[in-house]
Amino acid sequence: MDILHYQKTFLDYLKQQNFVKEPVNLYEPIDYILQLGGKRIRPVLTLMASDIFSDSYQKALPAALAIEVFHNFTLVHDDIMDDAPLRRGNKTVHEKWNINTGILSGDAMLILAYQYFENYEPKIFQKLAQLFSKTALEVCDGQQLDVDFETRNNVTLAEYIKMISLKTSVLIAAALKMGAIVAEASDQQASYLYDYGLNLGIAFQLQDDYLDTFGNPETFGKQVGGDIIENKKTYLFLKALEVANTEDTEKLQFLYSNKATENATKIREVTTIFERYNIQKHVEDQIKFYTDKAFDNLTVLSISEENKEKLKQFGLGLMHRKI
Ligand code: IPE
Ligand code: IPE
Ligand code: MG
Ligand code: MG
Ligand code: MG
Repeated sequence: MDILHYQKTFLDYLKQQNFVKEPVNLYEPIDYILQLGGKRIRPVLTLMASDIFSDSYQKALPAALAIEVFHNFTLVHDDIMDDAPLRRGNKTVHEKWNINTGILSGDAMLILAYQYFENYEPKIFQKLAQLFSKTALEVCDGQQLDVDFETRNNVTLAEYIKMISLKTSVLIAAALKMGAIVAEASDQQASYLYDYGLNLGIAFQLQDDYLDTFGNPETFGKQVGGDIIENKKTYLFLKALEVANTEDTEKLQFLYSNKATENATKIREVTTIFERYNIQKHVEDQIKFYTDKAFDNLTVLSISEENKEKLKQFGLGLMHRKI
């Protein structure tokens, strides 16, 4: 079954949920962010994984929703932390309401996410809850490292990969593994699928970093240059430090050591340096490297070639996304 079908099944299920109730100031922002769109890649992965290992992937819908609600919770808090004005082409929750609303509605979403696991029998519930708790804590670890890196000037590429594995990959991996858990696949198969998700997730975040600087502002849906404004130690920045001459390295270090330079000027100057060293190509190579690594992970899975191909097509689709 193709990706659009999983997406539609998920969206139908999402529409059936009634998020808005009293007090509306708590629940309206939850409904707002969840209906704002998004690619829905994590729930699609949960459904796809479940479909691969069972003949009733609809059973995975509550788990898929748990993952998507959790993901959207992380976005609400992430946008506060990153001081981001735009999400999916619309105002971020804390801009539309205020920071306190973003904090509390976000907290409620984390709890809501957990509640969806109550749809499962104890044995599966326990596995899902265990994986979810571990994953959610790792995302916090990753988010803290991401923020810590903003004020550090000696971040290594290895530290960066570790950070994005935590803030982004583990959730993509968990989305797949949850589908396998609901479908009662073996622990071994579930863990192989998890490994595929980890590498795919790294490629995914590299692409996210790429688009943050080189995306089309008309269609990207987020503020282009946001990572530059926030001194984010992305792959683009770290690679540029590695390959640039002394003058450009010093300029980059200077621009990222303060928030004094006016935003538009800073974005323009940093982007010019990235382009001078064709950092786009370096990122593309890395995205391909991790996507290929993910595809290698597929070989050990005991599933049909057709299903491997389905997972592969999904990975290729991510590599070429523009949003
Ligand atoms: C954004 O995730 C946050 C990252 C981990 C990069 P997505 O790019 O999946 O966001 P939506 O849900 O499609 O908007
Ligand atoms: C976000 O990373 C990761 C999480 C939300 C946990 P980013 O900060 O790069 O995500 P975007 O670019 O705002 O979507
Ligand atoms: Mg962000
Ligand atoms: Mg962030
Ligand atoms: Mg980003």
